[in-house]
Amino acid sequence: MKQTAVITGGSRGIGFAIARQLASENYNVAILDVNDPEAYRENLNQLDEMKADWLYYRGSVAEKADREGFVQAVTEKYGDIDVLVNNAGVAPLVRQDILQMTEESFDRVMTINLKGAMFFTQLVARKMLEQEYKGNRRGVIVNICSSSAYISSIIRGEYCMSKAGMAMMTLLYADRLAGEGINVYEIRPGVIDTDMTSVVHKKYSDLIEKGAFPIARWGTPQDIADAVSVFVSGKLSYCTGNYLDLDGGFHIPRL
Ligand SMILES: NC(=O)c1ccc[n+]([C@@H]2O[C@H](COP(=O)([O-])OP(=O)(O)OC[C@H]3O[C@@H](n4cnc5c(N)ncnc54)[C@H](OP(=O)(O)O)[C@@H]3O)[C@@H](O)[C@H]2O)c1
Repeated sequence: MKQTAVITGGSRGIGFAIARQLASENYNVAILDVNDPEAYRENLNQLDEMKADWLYYRGSVAEKADREGFVQAVTEKYGDIDVLVNNAGVAPLVRQDILQMTEESFDRVMTINLKGAMFFTQLVARKMLEQEYKGNRRGVIVNICSSSAYISSIIRGEYCMSKAGMAMMTLLYADRLAGEGINVYEIRPGVIDTDMTSVVHKKYSDLIEKGAFPIARWGTPQDIADAVSVFVSGKLSYCTGNYLDLDGGFHIPRL
């Protein structure tokens, strides 16, 4: 029977690559995103060309009513939710030194990146717990975190803190849900070529050219989608709470 994957922030970038990948693996894909779907119509057209079954719900992961409305829409159309990918995330609107960081920016980033993912996962996990086992599992959760969970960037501290919080969120849900047939994984992308990084494209391209990354290229959204594919495959069923650095080897301490 066809399974259903839910992806937040899936209209473009990494989230869309994940949606397309899972659609290619015969999942129904349900996307929650703040954007007008017409803004990224060419992406949705790709799903149609693949003859994918998809649902697009316009709303914010930071809003309780939107989270609930989305889960209701997915339940009505598809029934179970088998895969949750917490991908929606934002960078600070203005990069500034931690000594200048505003409370407004802190609240915005933490509310979307951490609180939104935390309570959306809570909602979906509760639903998964009501579902029948399929084989040895009731669901899989993948959190799209970041190298910023452990690397200090003093001009976007709120982003780093939101991702460090997400890393603990991965452990907490993995621990809570391990006995319930739901494994939880985390991916920590390094620098991935998307709209989010377009504002710092030159800075990161220069770093890549200077050899800062052992694998000397930009990461692609498809690199992340491929890793999600592995995590949801069921081939890692004896591990949960693990993270994968997807950063061209940037996490390796070097002399
Ligand atoms: N790109 C990288 O180098 C990189 C590295 C490490 C981690 N990540 C993480 O990977 C994830 C995806 O990043 P990306 O580069 O693909 O970013 P992106 O190109 O900005 O795409 C993110 C998508 O999420 C949507 N979104 C924003 N706030 C939302 C909300 N409240 N509710 C639902 N959807 C929302 C965005 O809408 P808008 O168009 O309105 O913003 C956008 O469609 C993020 O969590 C990011 O932190 C990215």
